[in-house]
Amino acid sequence: MKYVVAPGMKDLIKESPIYRKLETDFINLCLLNNFQEIRTPILESRDLFVRSVGEASDIVEKEMFTCDDLVLRPENTAPIVRAFLTQNLENGRYCYFAPQFRKERPQKGRFRQFYQYGFEMFGDNSPQLEIEGLLLIKSLYTQWKLSDFKIEVNYLGNFEERAKYLEALKDYFKSVYESLSETSKKRYESNTLRILDSKELCDQMLIANAPVINDYLTEESLNKWNKILNLCSLLEIKVEVNPRLVRGLDYYTGLVFEVIDTSGNLGSQKALGGGGRYDQLCADLGGKSIPAFGFAGGVERLILALNLNEEKFIDRQPLVCLITNKPEILPLLVNKKNLEPKLKIDICFSPEMGFKKMFKRADRLQARFVIILAEDELSKNQVKIKDMTSGNEATFKGALSDLDLSSLETLFTS
Ligand code: HAM
Repeated sequence: MKYVVAPGMKDLIKESPIYRKLETDFINLCLLNNFQEIRTPILESRDLFVRSVGEASDIVEKEMFTCDDLVLRPENTAPIVRAFLTQNLENGRYCYFAPQFRKERPQKGRFRQFYQYGFEMFGDNSPQLEIEGLLLIKSLYTQWKLSDFKIEVNYLGNFEERAKYLEALKDYFKSVYESLSETSKKRYESNTLRILDSKELCDQMLIANAPVINDYLTEESLNKWNKILNLCSLLEIKVEVNPRLVRGLDYYTGLVFEVIDTSGNLGSQKALGGGGRYDQLCADLGGKSIPAFGFAGGVERLILALNLNEEKFIDRQPLVCLITNKPEILPLLVNKKNLEPKLKIDICFSPEMGFKKMFKRADRLQARFVIILAEDELSKNQVKIKDMTSGNEATFKGALSDLDLSSLETLFTS
């Protein structure tokens, strides 16, 4: 076949009911928690992500699909901040279930088009936002019965504290520069913090001895950090402090976190989701200074972690096929179908086909029952029904309008 789906992208057909269920579960839970659903455009200005996610981030440097000065959005936080600021939206709590695009090397759990479920909350700088957000994630995963995961947290402080930390980190990595991996050497110049994300063995030992951000936090930040940790323990939100967790997006200030899969179902792409506080982003994008906090999880990775099997989601509602060779009685069939909006009904009326082909078609559609309205039955005011599983036939004495299509089995059991 000449035309195949582009690398890292998928046609969702069998998986579609899984996505629909996860979307409904997620959006409904958010609505009950006083969030509003938001759908932003897929195309946004490139500059929006340069200013927010960061010029030197992997996403902006090499992962965006670009079209003139627009890009397919690689994430949804910056677009929601843009919408919040430009549209004067009042209720500052938004949720979404939407596709994102990153030009990454495709592998298990990593795609070029993938879906995220996420939320963003605008408010103040008390730990209210963090705790509300983490509690929402906890109830979401409880609802989905996801148990094999841990939440790693770290506190990045404000931009001044981070600048001081970055200086110390640069000094340290300069002293061990020759032993760093090639990727980390490149990152040293462009984005030193990202060296801490390296999975290369030769970097691991060096990272273990690198300075940690905690030592560069002011008393005010340390107090906030401790408050959050205390509230987490009070509310039984299990978190693990990872002093080297930095995340790959530049807009974070304060708490950052990542949900890590521990089931082993995900291969090397273990991050189920991530998020944190971004108190400067609204001001950086030209709006008022409004503190904010958010999270996004990857749908494809969630499906792997939950081991959701397409089989379990197959639509098992029985299909009833109404077939006739007399197009003039079609209005009768359409009326019947309209009166049963909750049943799965297919109508076939082709005189050219003949009954044999119409039966074959019904079989291909995996019909459970076929209702035959031929000349003979119509003249006798009766309807013939075939059970496609057993091959048995039954006759209903009366008009089609009087036949109860929701309990056809009873015709074969009595
Ligand atoms: P992120 O860590 O870049 O954060 O992405 C969140 C999640 O999306 C990841 O943990 C992963 O599960 C999924 N994901 C990312 N890239 C891919 C990919 N190529 N294929 C499949 N899944 C992927 C954000 O996007 C931030 N906007 C999160 C946030 C919201 N921060 C504050 N508010």
